[in-house]
Amino acid sequence: MNALRATLIIFCMLCAADALADTPNGATLAQQGNGHGVAPCMACHGADGSGQAAAAFPRLAGLSQAYLRKQLDDFANGSRVNATMQPVASELSDVERDALSEYYSKLPLPAATPSPAPNGEVAQLGQRLATRGRWSNALPACEQCHGPDGVGVGDHFPPLSGQSAVYLSNQLHAWQQGSRHNDPLRLMQSVSGKLSDDDVAAISAWYASQPSVPSKEQQP
Ligand code: HEC
Ligand code: HEC
Repeated sequence: MNALRATLIIFCMLCAADALADTPNGATLAQQGNGHGVAPCMACHGADGSGQAAAAFPRLAGLSQAYLRKQLDDFANGSRVNATMQPVASELSDVERDALSEYYSKLPLPAATPSPAPNGEVAQLGQRLATRGRWSNALPACEQCHGPDGVGVGDHFPPLSGQSAVYLSNQLHAWQQGSRHNDPLRLMQSVSGKLSDDDVAAISAWYASQPSVPSKEQQP
């Protein structure tokens, strides 16, 4: 009986050691890729996870873990169409997606300089849409869901500040065209459908010029 128990204990210890050895490391994946087809994330998203504004590579640092994980799943299942990210996400295993989402959610918010504020009428339009929306066509204010100054709220509403104008406008156009249709309750499909091209340009420039601050979840 004791021998059996000892064997079981040793067996369980081996299993645990095995599981540990198999747990991928988020930082290593981000810096080196996964060794079977996935390029290092930091090649595009930057060493500090702040992204690259001009290339429309988004900031990942400080986004919610659940939101990041969901986006990787959405690229892989095709509800978010993007020629660059779909092959990356599809080649990541479940545990690798978890490790990377956890890693980026814990990276401190990069001290990026926001882009210069848009001028005059563009700024006014951007600020109005962000804080008040437009009741004539039942468009709610962006900050009702994305929080004051677009800092992001919880797991479902990502930050808009700290993203570049070109990334933000790409997403709004993707929803308008239906190539991104991964939003719960079609919330963003409805919002983006009410925006003109001028609105998209103004609101994207507005949020890109807002300093990013940690969301409540990130504050110590
Ligand atoms: C070759 C460049 C490139 C590489 C490498 C890359 N990405 Fe991306 N990533 C992009 C682009 C471009 C987008 C924006 C896609 C879009 O417009 O929908 C993006 C978007 C994302 C998003 C969505 C962010 C948001 O705010 O919704 C996540 C999450 C993400 N990438 C994670 C990763 C991870 C994790 C890795 C490494 C395993 C990685 N990416 C590697 C280019 C890249
Ligand atoms: C009723 C709630 C709601 C309102 C109002 C709203 N959004 Fe969103 N938004 C969402 C949700 C939910 C998501 C995340 C969808 C997903 O899971 O991919 C999102 C995501 C986004 C993204 C993608 C961010 C990223 O990192 O990829 C952008 C850009 C965006 N919203 C812009 C706006 C703008 C601009 C407005 C105002 C004109 C606005 N949203 C108003 C709910 C809302």
